[in-house]
Amino acid sequence: MKTIDELLAEGVTGKRVFVRADLNVPLSGTTITDDGRIRAVQPTVEKLAAAGARVIVASHLGRPKGAPDPTFSLAPAAARLGELIGADVAFATDTVGESARATVAALTDGKVAVIENLRFNPGETSKDDAERGAFADQLAELADVYVGDGFGAVHRKHASVFDLPARLPHAAGDLIATEVGVLKKLTEDVARPYAVVLGGSKVSDKLGVIDHLLERADRILIGGGMAYTFLKAQGHEVGSSLLQEDQIPAVLEYLKRAEEKGVEFVLPVDVVVSEQFPDLKTKAPSRHTTVPADAIPAGVMGLDNGPETNKLYASKLADAVTVFWNGPMGVFEHPDYAEGTRAVAQALVDSEGFSVVGGGDSAAAVRILGFDENAFGHISTGGGASLEYLEGKTLPGLAALED
Ligand code: 3PG
Repeated sequence: MKTIDELLAEGVTGKRVFVRADLNVPLSGTTITDDGRIRAVQPTVEKLAAAGARVIVASHLGRPKGAPDPTFSLAPAAARLGELIGADVAFATDTVGESARATVAALTDGKVAVIENLRFNPGETSKDDAERGAFADQLAELADVYVGDGFGAVHRKHASVFDLPARLPHAAGDLIATEVGVLKKLTEDVARPYAVVLGGSKVSDKLGVIDHLLERADRILIGGGMAYTFLKAQGHEVGSSLLQEDQIPAVLEYLKRAEEKGVEFVLPVDVVVSEQFPDLKTKAPSRHTTVPADAIPAGVMGLDNGPETNKLYASKLADAVTVFWNGPMGVFEHPDYAEGTRAVAQALVDSEGFSVVGGGDSAAAVRILGFDENAFGHISTGGGASLEYLEGKTLPGLAALED
């Protein structure tokens, strides 16, 4: 993989450089609630601009249906990028149309533009190679060189991630280089004890990674909505908590394999429950109580780990030399259900081991809960991407940057 510094050494002055970033930031209306992903690509953009390149930044945001949708406009992200780099950032209101072509044509050396959400074009995510290829051809006309730096999207076989680099000289940006370097530490000669904390709502999203980690991790701590499928699999009632009944056989298989392999599987011992899902907009106080995880009453749903679980998880993380964490422990967006996620983040901060926070939601949680990002070994910008890397899969956006 060519690095950005090697690319700069070849000279980029006056060249149109297409930077595939991941500016898929959480928005509340048009307000960005966590700009971590924009800050993460900033060094690459600044390096290229300082070297005199004409920088075209492109990304997806959300999952629009292949047509323009103002709710998913990248305009707020473009404005934020301009604030961060302290320079005007032009914005094209389409992807490969008149606005994009004119905006790129107007770029001068060292200037930066953002083009509109790539997923406003159906070719970006198409499963049809020809349709994706046709969009990649149009994108290729905008640029002379391609820099892949959208780590969060490298697991997607999308036109701008996979097909476009095949059409242009290409290099990997600094963010991708850093992310891959860190993930290698979790897959090759990992320092032990190696503890993994997995949360989030669905077990089905984590099957591949659990399967892979059963061969590598020493401890797997489970939280968030997915914990209730594990508790149910162990024969406990879970009230109206999130449950994926169809995953119970897979979960039982994992618990059995973990026992055979001596991998410690740790599940919540108490949980915070409520009759209703809280209002995340108003964040109004919600009636809740703590119950043992093996005695969740009917009619209530588990929304966070309880205090005994938080202590237990902190103790399981205290002596870990390597920790990977993906997925919140509860509905951390509401103050009544943020303690489990906060407790894991705090345990990672207190630990002397190397901690990696993987993923959109857990990374956002760490920042929203007010933790100092520098207190962690690494905060990844890629949720799905880091999980798929850990699963050992070939990621299209990394494969495309090889050679
Ligand atoms: C993410 O948020 O994980 C990345 O931006 C990828 O987004 P996607 O899951 O919509 O492809």
